[in-house]
Amino acid sequence: MAMLQIIYTSRATQPLDKQTLRELVADASRRNRDLGVTGVLYCSDDVYLQVLEGDEKAVLVLYSDILRDERHQDIHTVAIRPIDSRDFANWSMGLVDAVSEPIDLGNVLNRDRDRAGIWNHANWQTILNTVRAELEMIEP
Ligand SMILES: Cc1cc2nc3c(=O)[nH]c(=O)nc-3n(C[C@H](O)[C@H](O)[C@H](O)COP(=O)(O)O)c2cc1C
Repeated sequence: MAMLQIIYTSRATQPLDKQTLRELVADASRRNRDLGVTGVLYCSDDVYLQVLEGDEKAVLVLYSDILRDERHQDIHTVAIRPIDSRDFANWSMGLVDAVSEPIDLGNVLNRDRDRAGIWNHANWQTILNTVRAELEMIEP
């Protein structure tokens, strides 16, 4: 089965309080479980970074719904790539919203954009590893 990983960043239209964010993720996790999709949602202030991974059709269908969601804007697709194994296999949607060291996504995005539109995948792998390490601390 061909698997796909999608990584995007976006900005909340209106910052969500913790409770609302947790409810959004609980709903998302339920649907993701049905679709066989795993991933993580990182949220710091009004910035989101999400990773979606799973069967390519399921991931694309889900992403097209997420793109239409008016709760966020300025959506930047960072990567759509075929994968052999998942980075977040244990999480139908892990939530990282209280990190010891906020990840400076704005800085990375700007820096990457300066590189003539070429995403720096090494940077992104580092960010994914950081988010996963945070997740493992919250939900070992
Ligand atoms: C930042 C963000 C991340 C989301 N992540 C997911 C997700 O991982 N899975 C999911 O089913 N819905 C997610 N949603 C909600 C979807 O956009 C959509 O509302 C949901 O899938 C229900 O779609 P429907 O109303 O067409 O049934 C997310 C929404 C936002 C704003």
